[in-house]
Amino acid sequence: MPKIENFIFPKWSNYVLPTVLISITIILSILIGVIWYWMSPKHTDVGYMPEQPIPYSHKLHAGELGIDCRYCHVNVEKSPKATIPPTEICMNCHKTIKKDSPHIEKIRSSFANNTPIEWVRVHKLPDYAYFDHSRHVNSGVSCVECHGRVDKMEVVRQVEPLSMSWCLDCHRSPAKHIRPKDKVTDLTWTTKNKEQLGMELIKKYHIKTSEDCSTCHR
Ligand code: HEC
Ligand code: HEC
Ligand code: HEC
Ligand code: HEC
Ligand code: HEC
Repeated sequence: MPKIENFIFPKWSNYVLPTVLISITIILSILIGVIWYWMSPKHTDVGYMPEQPIPYSHKLHAGELGIDCRYCHVNVEKSPKATIPPTEICMNCHKTIKKDSPHIEKIRSSFANNTPIEWVRVHKLPDYAYFDHSRHVNSGVSCVECHGRVDKMEVVRQVEPLSMSWCLDCHRSPAKHIRPKDKVTDLTWTTKNKEQLGMELIKKYHIKTSEDCSTCHR
């Protein structure tokens, strides 16, 4: 006489519970792994170097031709955003320079049709973090501290992690990162006794860096 359970549950049902349990375990581990990776301060975009619609070179313009960063990034001293230059600024020169180049042709048609060039964003903080260029630049923190030697880059790439621990490292002890304000866009500037000078400038500029959460999360 067969056992009564065999009529209620078919034999394969014995495997259902273990299979479901194993699947849930695997899915959970993957989820935890992914979340841990994205939340971890070690997750960075260092090296990110997207291809741009026009091969604009900082090495040529900012390096060899020596055009000041502020000629194009006009708001970097005045507002949180540095801003990417509109096509008009390129046209100041390219109305006449290299008119026959196919790349310059793209600039000219962007200008003529009033359609902005779609530059790909390189540096991007998450929305919950607040950053302000003017506060840094006006405190004598140079572009090079956070963006590296852009004046040597054919294509811009991210060189610092831009993670919270990276921000805090400097906010805790800024001295060696502070230089005279008029040298912030001179990426080659250096001096002996950097830290000593930095300490003097911190007093002179009344710098008081903050580690309060609300400084960067507001
Ligand atoms: C002639 C104009 C011009 C000058 C001068 C210039 N830039 Fe730029 N910059 C651009 C353009 C256009 C882009 C967007 C395309 C790209 O990323 O290459 C850009 C992008 C950047 C980016 C990346 C922005 C992002 O998407 O995250 C950084 C950082 C930057 N510039 C820093 C500098 C620094 C530092 C200097 C001075 C040493 C400088 N630039 C001088 C035109 C200029
Ligand atoms: C203290 C670090 C720091 C300094 C100094 C700094 N930047 Fe930035 N920059 C950043 C961060 C962080 C971002 C991304 C901001 C975001 O996503 O909100 C950024 C983004 C940018 C961008 C693209 C977005 C925008 O704001 O338009 C440009 C262009 C730029 N920086 C240029 C410059 C130039 C030029 C200088 C020097 C005059 C400079 N930066 C100095 C940290 C810095
Ligand atoms: C102050 C003048 C000046 C400004 C402003 C300027 N450029 Fe230039 N650009 C030059 C000069 C000079 C050259 C080199 C021309 C040569 O090789 O003979 C050049 C070369 C180039 C080239 C290489 C062209 C080729 O085919 O060899 C590109 C692309 C370019 N610029 C893009 C831009 C963009 C985009 C902007 C605006 C963000 C811009 N330039 C702003 C002066 C300027
Ligand atoms: C290389 C040094 C350095 C780095 C890196 C740096 N900061 Fe700063 N930060 C400063 C200095 C110096 C000041 C100016 C403090 C003052 O105004 O007294 C400042 C000021 C600020 C302020 C304005 C504070 C206020 O009271 O409004 C904000 C916001 C800020 N930083 C956010 C950031 C964030 C976010 C990052 C990372 C993405 C960062 N900083 C990375 C040096 C740095
Ligand atoms: C100087 C600026 C700054 C200060 C001060 C700061 N944060 Fe952040 N925080 C950031 C930035 C920038 C990120 C984004 C990091 C990234 O994209 O990897 C971040 C990310 C975070 C995250 C997301 C997880 C992570 O680590 O990426 C949490 C949670 C957080 N902050 C909490 C805090 C708390 C709590 C405080 C106060 C004790 C604080 N923050 C102070 C700049 C700051």
